[in-house]
Amino acid sequence: ARARDNGLALTPPMGWLTWERFRCNIDCENEPDSCISEQLMRDMADRMQQDGFLDAGYKYVIVDDCWLASTRSEAGRLQPDPNRFPSGMVALGDYIHDKGLLFGIYEDIGSETCAGYPGLRGHFETDVQTFDDWGADYLKIDGCNERSSALPADHEAFGAQLAALGRPIVYSCEWPLYEHGPHNYSAIAATCNLWRNAHDIQDHWQSVVSVARLYALLQAEQFAFAGPGAWFDPDMLLIGNSGLNEGESRAQMALWSVWAAPLIMSNDLRRLDAASAAILLNSEVIAVDQDTLGVLGRPATVRFSPNQVGCGAAAGYALRELFSHGDLGVVTPVQEIAAQVPARDALMYKLTVQ
Ligand SMILES: *[C@@H]1O[C@H](CO)[C@@H](O)[C@H](O)[C@H]1NC(C)=O
Repeated sequence: ARARDNGLALTPPMGWLTWERFRCNIDCENEPDSCISEQLMRDMADRMQQDGFLDAGYKYVIVDDCWLASTRSEAGRLQPDPNRFPSGMVALGDYIHDKGLLFGIYEDIGSETCAGYPGLRGHFETDVQTFDDWGADYLKIDGCNERSSALPADHEAFGAQLAALGRPIVYSCEWPLYEHGPHNYSAIAATCNLWRNAHDIQDHWQSVVSVARLYALLQAEQFAFAGPGAWFDPDMLLIGNSGLNEGESRAQMALWSVWAAPLIMSNDLRRLDAASAAILLNSEVIAVDQDTLGVLGRPATVRFSPNQVGCGAAAGYALRELFSHGDLGVVTPVQEIAAQVPARDALMYKLTVQ
């Protein structure tokens, strides 16, 4: 009951988000294929439904910053850019829902979004009503352009408006990222379904490594608060872009899944190579991420015995490697498991009690 109690995100949310791949590209005249627009969102919804992503669990299609018009409407409502979203947000939500997918929208708790579009400050009640009218299922709320000291009360007040709606909406926060510490993770987990601690992930291996380092630093402090309904969010999957090679892509997928992290892709699903698709759609790895217990994994040394990771059943364990779908026999709790892991790659072992 310590998690945001809205019945959502009982396993880590899975989906697709515009930001890492498409940024704040608003130039639809010169780059119609990759600007933030209703067409881009529809294209991705099509691919998610037709190429197996929805079946694999990726449900949320989320538009990040730069979907907004530069001003509110005369009535004070948020409105999308009329040139890039000519059919409006209700129509976009309907399109996404008709595919069996769910609709996610970005906003910012402060006066403006990070890219300078109208923010939520002073409009929480109206804007929650607008998002509800549009059929939003997931809100990614950023923290630019607000004072650190205002962040706790802001996030709780916005969460209270969401709770007053007739239906639940996933509430994704960046509260600890923008708050000068220390953070009250008890309050954060009771308010938000997921929270970001780190700056935006970038499309290269060093960025994955820096997220992993931060995770190692934070695990003791915040693991107690993560679990069904309340997740630590290490940011988007980079897989399918140009920054990670195949091994590095496996490594990111393995880390995020062991961490029970949200699996939110940001790539161009219209131009996805087969190796990236296979990694993103690996059902055995996704099953680790989506385990309903929601216990976050902890790093161990490369040589380890089942005992060292808390698996002490005397009957032993069937050992399986999930990327190769390989059965590797039975190990006892004290037996050493050692492997040659190629640099910047991953093997992912699952131990099933005998
Ligand atoms: C943290 O938040 C919880 C729950 O909202 C509250 O009960 C507690 O007093 C807060 N702790 C601190 C140190 O502010």
